[in-house]
Amino acid sequence: MDKKATLHLGDGRSFEFPMLAGTTGPEVVDIRTLYGKAGVFTYDPGYLSTASCNSTITYIDGDQGVLLYRGYPIEQLAQHCDFLEVCYLLLYGELPSAKQQAEFVGMVTHHTMVHEQLARLYQGFRRDAHPMAVMVGVVGALSAFYHDALDISSPEDRSICAFRLIAKMPTIVAMSYKYSIGQPFVYPRNDLSYTANFMRMMFAVPAEDYKVNQVLVRALDRIFILHADHEQNASTSTVRLSGSSGANPYACIAAGIACLWGPAHGGANEACLEMLEEIGDASKIGEFIRKVKDKSSGVRLMGFGHRVYKNHDPRAKLMRETCHEVLNELGLHNDRLFKLALALEKVALEDDYFVSRKLYPNVDFYSGIVQRALGIPVAMFTCIFSLARTAGWIAQWQEMIADPEYKIGRPRQLYKGATRREVKLIAQR
Ligand code: CMC
Repeated sequence: MDKKATLHLGDGRSFEFPMLAGTTGPEVVDIRTLYGKAGVFTYDPGYLSTASCNSTITYIDGDQGVLLYRGYPIEQLAQHCDFLEVCYLLLYGELPSAKQQAEFVGMVTHHTMVHEQLARLYQGFRRDAHPMAVMVGVVGALSAFYHDALDISSPEDRSICAFRLIAKMPTIVAMSYKYSIGQPFVYPRNDLSYTANFMRMMFAVPAEDYKVNQVLVRALDRIFILHADHEQNASTSTVRLSGSSGANPYACIAAGIACLWGPAHGGANEACLEMLEEIGDASKIGEFIRKVKDKSSGVRLMGFGHRVYKNHDPRAKLMRETCHEVLNELGLHNDRLFKLALALEKVALEDDYFVSRKLYPNVDFYSGIVQRALGIPVAMFTCIFSLARTAGWIAQWQEMIADPEYKIGRPRQLYKGATRREVKLIAQR
């Protein structure tokens, strides 16, 4: 028998709603008919208890520390796949065969260049602008360059947009970096892998090519995999909400980038590294932790805590391993900030404030240290995150547009403002 939930309103009225079950995870109460039947809304700021869509892409069990992309555990994907295989998986639902992978890589590789006019767009930005500010502008502008395939009702056009975004993001991110340091743009090279090509576009200069180091390429590729998707987080929900109006995917991804930039979301690894610099020395950890625990200070332990993971963030463990690999490869195991981070993590994990609130290191606690060791400046960290998350954003956008139940997103509110009143003429106010 179909399960139902009954809502008693306290005024004698009660209503039944269907319960819907997914393949795993909590069941949901389908309240779509609530307002029509009962004339009331639900109140859920921050969406703590709201499933905003149905999805087959990513599953998280925050209590168990589980993250699955299309059913595959993140640990196995990080170990056995590269980022483009993961992109294929997110977009099409299955891991590619060797032939499919070759075709996909070929397609992405042959879309990495950007329109030459787009390169000129950068000149309009100040050199000292934050690269994320530039990214929001440049990615939003893509619809002005690639309007040949913008019919979102056409699966073919949607697929072309997805290829273009995944292929061009490394070029756009690297150009944002080169522009900020006053170096010439480096064009993509088709004989390199996706991630090696990105590193070369970031670090090569006309006077000297970039020597690819496979350990470092693998580390960055892993960062891409770990950040590729994360279910209905703030930026993904932003992409979906923007896209629900029929807006073009480049505009939607630009909106996602703007949301990701916030320090409570993608800006956390940048904030985490700044925090480590500010603490400066292991002897100051006690003082810093006292400040974090004093609510009036407004200071948080960046890289700790997560809305969904309340046991551990599986990505944090993988990132910690990668951190060791990279620092060993570069002979940096005595790195000051890395040692400080390890000491800070230990103190926090033994402190009742963090234990009782289930606050554990999240992926950003170590990803900043890895990126810094790779030579990526702090201001670029969130751009790297946006590059990786574009795969998830575009997969989620595609899923939404193809969903027969898709509707424009339109939350309601609990109004607490003035009730109706009359306007007085200015002389009488
Ligand atoms: N440092 C100190 N206290 C914290 C922290 C922290 N990092 N995170 C949460 N708390 C406390 C918070 O003050 C509250 O305490 P109390 O119950 O006494 O009022 C309690 O823990 C619950 O916090 P919350 O703000 O209700 O939790 P949330 O689920 O809304 O916030 C979060 C999640 C990620 C915004 C928050 O943990 C945070 O600000 N962390 C630091 C920023 C960070 O590392 N963000 C990256 C998230 S991972 C990247 C991604 O997936 O996008």
